[in-house]
Formats: sequence, C-alpha cells, structure tokens
Amino acid sequence: MQRHVDIDKAIERKYPEQVVLVTSRGKDGKPNVMAVGWICVASGEPIMFILGIDEDSHTFELIRETKEFVVAYPHEFMKDETLIAGSCHGDEVDKIAKAGLNTQSAKKVKAPLLSDAVANFECEMIDIIKPGDCALVIGKVVAAHVNTDPLLKRLCTVDKGHELAGVRPI
Ligand SMILES: Cc1cc2nc3c(=O)[nH]c(=O)nc-3n(C[C@H](O)[C@H](O)[C@H](O)COP(=O)(O)O)c2cc1C
Repeated sequence: MQRHVDIDKAIERKYPEQVVLVTSRGKDGKPNVMAVGWICVASGEPIMFILGIDEDSHTFELIRETKEFVVAYPHEFMKDETLIAGSCHGDEVDKIAKAGLNTQSAKKVKAPLLSDAVANFECEMIDIIKPGDCALVIGKVVAAHVNTDPLLKRLCTVDKGHELAGVRPI
C-alpha cells in the first residue's frame, strides 16, 4: 500500500546510493578529489557517466578547465577518506594528502587513479548540461582499471547525513 507524501519525504527513501570519488588535476599540476553521489551510467557503447556536480566546487572548475577526470569506486573501508573528499574544497586543502589516498598515474588523462579503489574509470568530458539546479557533467570512459583484489566491496551512502557503509549480500 502507498501513502501520498511530499516529494522531499519520499526521496529520503532513495538509499542505498552509490558514492564515487572524482579526481581531477588542474593545469598547475595540483590534483584534487571530491565525493559524488549523483552519478549513473548514461551510455553503454561507449560507456559514459553522468555526474551531478555543484558549479561552486573546485572539481567543477577543474573539469571545465581540463575536460578530464577520473571516477573511482571507493571500497567499503574508505569511509574516512570519502568524508574528507566530500567536506572541504580542493583550492583550500590538499585533500589527497589529508585523506592519505594513494595515487598512481592514469593511462590517458592527467587526473590520478586512486590505487586502493575497487575500480577507476578515466573520463573525457564531452558535455555539461543543466536541466535543473545542478550541472550534469557527461564523461566518456576512455580507459579503466580494477583492483587486483577481486573481493573488495564498494562503499555506499546508506542513509541521510552522508552515512556511509559497505553493502553486502544478506
Ligand atoms: C557522500 C557524499 C556525496 C556527495 N555527493 C555530491 C554530489 O553528488 N554532487 C556534489 O556536487 N557534491 C556532492 N558532495 C559534496 C562534495 O563532495 C563537496 O562539496 C566537496 O567539498 C567538493 O570538493 P571540491 O570543491 O574540492 O571539488 C557529496 C559529499 C559526500 C560526503
């Protein structure tokens, strides 16, 4: 049975929601990392992602400048790193250093891979659209990498207030 409620109330039931870490690198060479929950696959051939990224974020500025970024899937124990990536701005804090994230060079883009992530997807930005109040960045995946440990599980947002946890089969 369904009860009619305000849209704001119903959307609170959306969890679990995936969370990713988006890395970028400015033309000055400085890397950045940001947490993003609003992401989905937008094309299968070629694989593309669409990400809702706040226009006030440093990441948005860097992606617009370089047209490149990396989408990394944090593993279930990367909660602290993900909260750091999602709680301050890269033009004020070196979040990669603060979070102690290990990085390595990507193959086709200048943004770094996160060595400990479940998977990394190198993306070329192909468009930015704004159908609502959030800019949607569309990226085409041009190279991909997976962790050598195949058993790592992804981190998800499991409830309001950025409550993060691994999601495991029951
Ligand atoms: C779990 C989580 C999910 C988030 N999802 C988004 C998102 O989808 N879009 C967005 O613009 N910001 C999102 N944020 C907030 C950004 O990560 C945050 O504003 C960050 O400080 C921006 O970093 P930057 O300015 O260095 O790019 C999220 C934060 C957390 C903790």
